[in-house]
Amino acid sequence: MEDSLPVNVREYQKLAKKALPKMHYDYINGGADDEYTLRENIAAYGRILLRPRVLIDVSKIDMSTSLLGYNMPSPIIVAPTGAHKLANPEGEVATARAAAACNTIMVLSFSSSCRIEEVASSCDAIRFYQLYMCKRRDVSAALVQRAESLGFKALVLTVDRPVLGRREADIRNKMISPRFVNLEGLMSLDKDIDSAEGGSKLERFSRETLDPSLSWKDVEWLKSITSLPILLKGIITAEDARKAVEAGVSGVILSNHGGRQLDYAPATISALEEVVKAVEGSVPVLVDGGIRRGTDVLKALALGAKAVMVGRPVLYGLAARGEAGARHVIEMLNKELELAMALCGCRSVAEVTRAHVQTEGDGIR
Ligand code: FNR
Repeated sequence: MEDSLPVNVREYQKLAKKALPKMHYDYINGGADDEYTLRENIAAYGRILLRPRVLIDVSKIDMSTSLLGYNMPSPIIVAPTGAHKLANPEGEVATARAAAACNTIMVLSFSSSCRIEEVASSCDAIRFYQLYMCKRRDVSAALVQRAESLGFKALVLTVDRPVLGRREADIRNKMISPRFVNLEGLMSLDKDIDSAEGGSKLERFSRETLDPSLSWKDVEWLKSITSLPILLKGIITAEDARKAVEAGVSGVILSNHGGRQLDYAPATISALEEVVKAVEGSVPVLVDGGIRRGTDVLKALALGAKAVMVGRPVLYGLAARGEAGARHVIEMLNKELELAMALCGCRSVAEVTRAHVQTEGDGIR
């Protein structure tokens, strides 16, 4: 068994595809419309080259960093993704244990298929809670209070999904809406959602439950009901990054939702420098989307990210080998980053600089 372990994220993706029903694999893997942004998130990393320095003693590599005051052994954290039970029956509890084993932060999704309480008690770890804004603000407030009282350390408000992107695979597959266990008891959920006619049932849930009127004043509101730091996830322009800083958030997560929302939004790595410049160091900038290699992480750090989040890779691991697979994916990415740093002559995260990458815009130095 040990001999046949996958050696990279792409091999895990292949195993996940074999392991899952088509409807579930398509849900995890797919993106919006033409899937341009989905492809571009990955392809744009391929156009950035590394500029290594040699004859530096790299016998010790320190990948550690910190986020909002929490120390982490590496800058790779787990992105919020919904419905982990579609990948493995243990769901988010398995992912949480995998993240905890790697001492990394997991951002638990609003759409998790395990109850928040169950995940919180599954193991000891630093966790953040991701929120979508519900039409019923009392429901959002109740979720925030639950996360806060269960020891979650920050809120991640996802702002790039006022309405659901059009995911054609889910429409074609008549994707069944996963159960939103954390909303049970807080609001009446449509029992008929799975027998609704036509399209993806997820779309109908989103339309009925989530609030398309979400605006900057709701960020104010969220600040007024919690003492937790708030990060905004789904910013992709300098304009919005500046507004986020003005709104007093504690961090910006540069994301296009893994290409699942607005198609033809730029690849996140292409927008990173613009966003980092706009926030002028006032808050940390995280980036997600398309990270499949340790070298991708190094490129993101070089262009100014404080940390990165990985979404699908963890789900591939979970689908292929449960908790052990999710853990192995994080460990592999950590190992790959360590190797890339050594080969680039960077002994610490602080030593990774803009001069270690060459982007298309740089031309020849
Ligand atoms: C997501 N993403 C997401 N984001 C969020 O804020 N809340 C959520 O519930 C989900 N759910 C979700 C489900 C699935 C199956 C995927 C693939 C993605 C987006 C996620 O947090 C992240 O932005 C992307 O996954 C990053 O891209 P990669 O790493 O998957 O390429």
